[in-house]
Amino acid sequence: MKLADNKATLSFSNGKPAIELPVYSGNIGPDVIDIRKLYGQTGMFTYDPGFLSTASCQSAITYIDGDKGELLYRGYPIEQLAENCDFLETCYLLLKGSLPNATEKKSFTDLVTHHTMVNEQMQFFLRGFRRDAHPMAILTGLIGALSAFYHDSTDINNPEHREISAIRLIAKLPTLVAMAYKYGIGQPYMYPQNNLSYAGNFLRMMFATPCEEYKVNPVIEKALDRIFILHADHEQNASTSTVRLCGSSGTNPFAAIAAGVACLWGPAHGGANEAALNMLYDIQNQGGVAKIGEFIKQVKDKNSSVKLMGFGHRVYKNYDPRAKLMQQTCNEVLTELGLEKDPLFALAKELEKIALEDEYFVSRKLYPNVDFYSGIVQRAIGIPVNLFTGIFALARTVGWIAQLNEMIGDPEYKIGRPRQLFTGSPRRDVPPIAKR
Ligand code: CMC
Repeated sequence: MKLADNKATLSFSNGKPAIELPVYSGNIGPDVIDIRKLYGQTGMFTYDPGFLSTASCQSAITYIDGDKGELLYRGYPIEQLAENCDFLETCYLLLKGSLPNATEKKSFTDLVTHHTMVNEQMQFFLRGFRRDAHPMAILTGLIGALSAFYHDSTDINNPEHREISAIRLIAKLPTLVAMAYKYGIGQPYMYPQNNLSYAGNFLRMMFATPCEEYKVNPVIEKALDRIFILHADHEQNASTSTVRLCGSSGTNPFAAIAAGVACLWGPAHGGANEAALNMLYDIQNQGGVAKIGEFIKQVKDKNSSVKLMGFGHRVYKNYDPRAKLMQQTCNEVLTELGLEKDPLFALAKELEKIALEDEYFVSRKLYPNVDFYSGIVQRAIGIPVNLFTGIFALARTVGWIAQLNEMIGDPEYKIGRPRQLFTGSPRRDVPPIAKR
């Protein structure tokens, strides 16, 4: 962060003296006005619900140019990472800042692979849940519970603890997601198998049973790995900001990541792929392609709360580069599985086409986001709809950890504490109960 060569001047119409505020430049992207001294100098706060105009931190991890439709992890375009790297290389990149060479890749992969098992006691904890519990409810609980199982890595201020908890979280998330799934369907858990890739091992833990051999399909393995890469980080989104805010109190990394999982669950964030697929099912049940026009009408109606799920993004106002890659993966998976004529995929493509030509969506710069197609891919792979957000959480864990660790290492970091514009009652006295 460097001082820009200009300053901002804030003046007031009531004769209060104007104040000058420093401006900082990043390496790319918009400059920021430093308002930290604003309250001290003026007795005023800024008002920015939803943080539409607020940079809450400096970060060197992920950069998004919403107008260009560009996503960079540590400077590398997402398209190149998706083509040339696997998920664990991407994890290394996000955590450490550079891509691993062959030796580094091998030792990082070994390290993650040898932490995939969870404490055996976790399965008894899992048994406390109802079998029909939503996997995200289970995951929030299981991930929070990791801090009760791994006492030796809970000090966020200790770099070694941060390092080992990072590896544990990345390694154990697939195991926990698969356990949550198996528990729901009443099948035995499958222990991780260390000779498989990260994605291959996850597929086996999800879909194998102890009764027969399971062979990982390389096309599905690659597709899943790509889903993980595309969801690995997305700068200061709601769940990442939640992890940072939660971690800023000095809580342990497992608790902070559990907070992120809880935030991700919401339909406006990670829950959107589930919501997008349910929307496609609804349209299909009501008559399919022929009903798209009617559905779009409802979406555009100001009095209805219906949204085109999987469309729109707070930052991308041109296109979501992840959506393009996901559409390509979608084609590959459906072809591999002989589902090219899948009616839901055909419906999604038609819906996208119509929406992209419609003035309502064009004028608001609403384009398909990553979740529009990721649900179709996951459904084709056999992942149940209510587990989609769990897969997102699994992939995003590395981003959350990288951001959390970056925050702890930032000399400017403070406990997060937003202010408010109070609109409630001024001071008043409690009347006796008979007079209320
Ligand atoms: N369908 C219909 N209208 C929409 C949609 C949509 N999906 N998204 C935004 N709009 C309209 C909105 O009603 C508003 O219209 P108007 O100006 O007439 O009031 C305008 O577009 C601007 O919307 P906004 O709500 O101010 O935009 P936002 O930046 O606050 O919201 C969003 C971004 C992602 C929450 C929203 O687009 C949305 O709810 N999309 C559907 C859910 C979804 O797909 N979310 C996944 C996001 S990508 C995964 C991730 O990174 O988490």
